[in-house]
Amino acid sequence: MKQIPTIRGHLLWGLARELRQDPLGLAASLANDHGGMVRFRILNRPFIAISDPAVARYILHKNPGNYPRSFHYRNGALTIGEGLLSVEGEAWHRSRRMMQPAFRSDPVREVAAVTAGCWTDMVPDLRSSMNRDQRVDMAAECQRLALDIILRALCGLKLEQEQVLSLGAVVKEALRRVRIRNTSAIPAPLWMPTPNNRALRRVREELDAFLGPVVEERLHTSEGTDMLSALARARDDQGQAFTRQELLDQTKTLFAAGFETTATAMAWAMCEVADDPVLADRLAEEARAAMAGQPVDRTTLDRLPLAGRVVEEVLRLHPPVYNIGRHSIDDEEVGGWHIPGGTDLLISVWGLHRGPHWGESALRFDPDRWLPERAPAKEAYMPFAVGRHTCIGNHFALVEMRMMLALICYQFRLGWAPGCARPGVSPQITAAPDAPVWLRLEPR
Ligand code: HEM
Repeated sequence: MKQIPTIRGHLLWGLARELRQDPLGLAASLANDHGGMVRFRILNRPFIAISDPAVARYILHKNPGNYPRSFHYRNGALTIGEGLLSVEGEAWHRSRRMMQPAFRSDPVREVAAVTAGCWTDMVPDLRSSMNRDQRVDMAAECQRLALDIILRALCGLKLEQEQVLSLGAVVKEALRRVRIRNTSAIPAPLWMPTPNNRALRRVREELDAFLGPVVEERLHTSEGTDMLSALARARDDQGQAFTRQELLDQTKTLFAAGFETTATAMAWAMCEVADDPVLADRLAEEARAAMAGQPVDRTTLDRLPLAGRVVEEVLRLHPPVYNIGRHSIDDEEVGGWHIPGGTDLLISVWGLHRGPHWGESALRFDPDRWLPERAPAKEAYMPFAVGRHTCIGNHFALVEMRMMLALICYQFRLGWAPGCARPGVSPQITAAPDAPVWLRLEPR
């Protein structure tokens, strides 16, 4: 059996500082430079970082019972409640079964038209921002758009831009506060009135105050076509519906999981398109042929294959969810490696997506690597994870992003604003740009 190489780090705190300073670089280089597996510790907590695709797939897909989600996900429940992301076991199974029908690829194709509606409403704002400032922060605009899309698709709500922005700020603050707790070496007990504990409670109350009345209304009138109505109509094997609290927690979960991830990926898509005018022209031409003179509907997507490949490649090179956390229960031998029980496992999606399976062009943005004849290394690709916890919103996100990209490139020619360039990456809850993406938009 192969022994997993160990990095010792500091005598007392192990690799705590390195992981906090550069979680992307560390997890990926640790795992890639040591044959895909490495052990380390944070204080006295043992970790293994993994970027071996076969081991990652085994843990997530083949024997998930021995590898439940890590403690990070429980912390999420402090703000977004006991939704699909935070619960395990029978509670998770029941919720997943009840929610799955609303997220199948067929119903979710309706998101194409929702995306087009939100985009149409946003264009005048972008035009006036351009006229006023000569540049637009497309990372912020993609966030606003993603939030508007999820509000309309999930809850059937069309809000004023200011309300959209303030709800976005609360969701982001919720995620930030959970991350502070996740990365603190010794988190304070929840009863202690520390600044972070107080903030966790405050954002939970703000989210409840906003979404509670919407959920309440759906419980009484659930005939609507939005996803929340579908969740209100769902029944479990015993014929029971979600309670009010369960529905609220699932709604908060879908918001938190579904807007920042997509917005982050789209911010990187904007950078790639701004860097490559030829690609931008190809996307615009494809979108023109797919959309000119016809309304956007569920069939539009089939006419946007290049946009689909660009999205796949964005999710490879810039995976918003860069680590997937699990915890081993019992010792096991996986792919010839001994994985001890009682260990936190960090599956490095970042490392998998940039590792040796992608050959010499691993770090190059190349959407055409997804052409079927190029046989991309799909076993090392898991932006939405694999196995039982595979992202329930994966089709939603793919439809939404493909449409956003096509609509943006059809309407505008994108380029970097004078003096501005691609920002660096800031690995928080998602691996987002660490500064605005200032672009110049010229109408096509
Ligand atoms: C580019 C966008 C997205 C990415 C990269 C992404 C990524 C992921 C990943 C990696 C997981 C698995 C986490 C784990 O097993 O530990 C996950 C789970 C989940 N995602 Fe997404 N996601 C995206 C968009 C969405 C959207 C749009 C929604 C909802 C509308 C959503 C809702 C969820 C939920 C509820 C789970 C938990 C599933 C379960 O445990 O059964 N995500 N996502």
